[in-house]
Amino acid sequence: MTVATKIMCVVGTRPEAIKMAPVILALQAQPWAEVRVLATAQHRQMLDQVMNFFGISPDIDLDLMRPNQSLAALTARLLQEMDAVLLSEKPDVVLGQGDTTTVMAVALACFYRRIPFGHIEAGLRTGDLQNPFPEEANRVIAGRLARWHFAPTESSRRNLLKEGVQDSDIAVTGNTVIDALLMTASKDIDIGISLDERKRLVLVTSHRRENFGQPFVNICHAIKTLADRNADVQVLYPVHPNPNVKDVAYDILGGTSNIVLCDPLDYAPFVAAMKKAYLIISDSGGVQEEAPALGKPVLVLREETERPEAVDLGVVKLVGSDTNNIVTEAQLMLDDVAAYQAVARGVSPYGDGKAAARIVEVLQQAHQCS
Ligand code: UD1
Ligand code: UDP
Repeated sequence: MTVATKIMCVVGTRPEAIKMAPVILALQAQPWAEVRVLATAQHRQMLDQVMNFFGISPDIDLDLMRPNQSLAALTARLLQEMDAVLLSEKPDVVLGQGDTTTVMAVALACFYRRIPFGHIEAGLRTGDLQNPFPEEANRVIAGRLARWHFAPTESSRRNLLKEGVQDSDIAVTGNTVIDALLMTASKDIDIGISLDERKRLVLVTSHRRENFGQPFVNICHAIKTLADRNADVQVLYPVHPNPNVKDVAYDILGGTSNIVLCDPLDYAPFVAAMKKAYLIISDSGGVQEEAPALGKPVLVLREETERPEAVDLGVVKLVGSDTNNIVTEAQLMLDDVAAYQAVARGVSPYGDGKAAARIVEVLQQAHQCS
């Protein structure tokens, strides 16, 4: 009898957990795979929220999050702790997702121990190492070290080919974020926040490091201006717990009657909020992928995006962090029905909900060849 392949799935932050969950669940159903789930816990509460929702318990939890952690200290802790885990667990394959510090450090730790690493959501690029910071560098490093590249789209596949990755090492799978969304969006889940039903809902999220400081202050002023000018609008903003975000958001937006600030929502209530929203304003990578699938326009608070597909289709718009620009573009969505409908088309370039199955198929083939 062939020995099972020991696959370690690593998650560190909220988006990694959401996008890895469908892969973990699909692998757990495979008789040839022995699945181990490792939480670095780069995030704590936000990671736990997602793992609980999908009913996944980590086999190992490194509990690495520290308040306001620096990138260098986090990276150092990750490398050391991961190396010890790889030594004791001896996985045959390690999987990581996305572009966080966890993914970059795990790919490097695997390289040092010569353990094959599979990169999920491979090949996203802006071509500018400073934007998004530090994620562009994280995914370039993880990609350079990966054995398997699970690219969500043809354009991400082309980015990898340009960097010299062998076509045979790339599988275009779609993004697992759509698998997770389809598992969740069909459920009738309450947002759990008291909202004024007569008002149009504008949903906001923001957390990017390149927006810290003045750009984020400008973003908050734009949200406040929109709320002040549009009495028929209610803003819901689940605030990211990073102190660089939280302190400024509460300072500028707290106390405005039609702005509701709250802690991060659990994944299912957040999906319910996206479904209910008239407009979404966000710098999140995941939200840029989910909202088009739900037919919701997103104004993206970034200068560049590694997710050009939705922008090219016209269902997502880059608005940067300039206050006037954000206000002008959001006001257009609120006032001009034709402009709104041109964006709210329900086109999803990021997947069909079968990405996890395609990833499992590639790993099964590798198992059969081992
Ligand atoms: C991280 C990722 C970013 C990803 C984002 C998703 C890096 C460098 N950044 O950014 O790519 O888009 O997660 O949300 O990998 N905190 C809590 N509780 C939590 C999570 C965070 O209190 O559950 C606070 C802590 O003070 C922590 C700080 O936020 O030190 C920053 O967390 P960190 O993971 O370093 O960066 P994020 O800004 O969350
Ligand atoms: N999300 C959530 N609760 C919130 C805000 C976002 O569950 O209050 C989900 C969202 O649906 C998406 C993911 O978190 O799947 C995006 O995470 P985040 O914006 O933190 O990171 P990014 O995708 O930018 O790396």
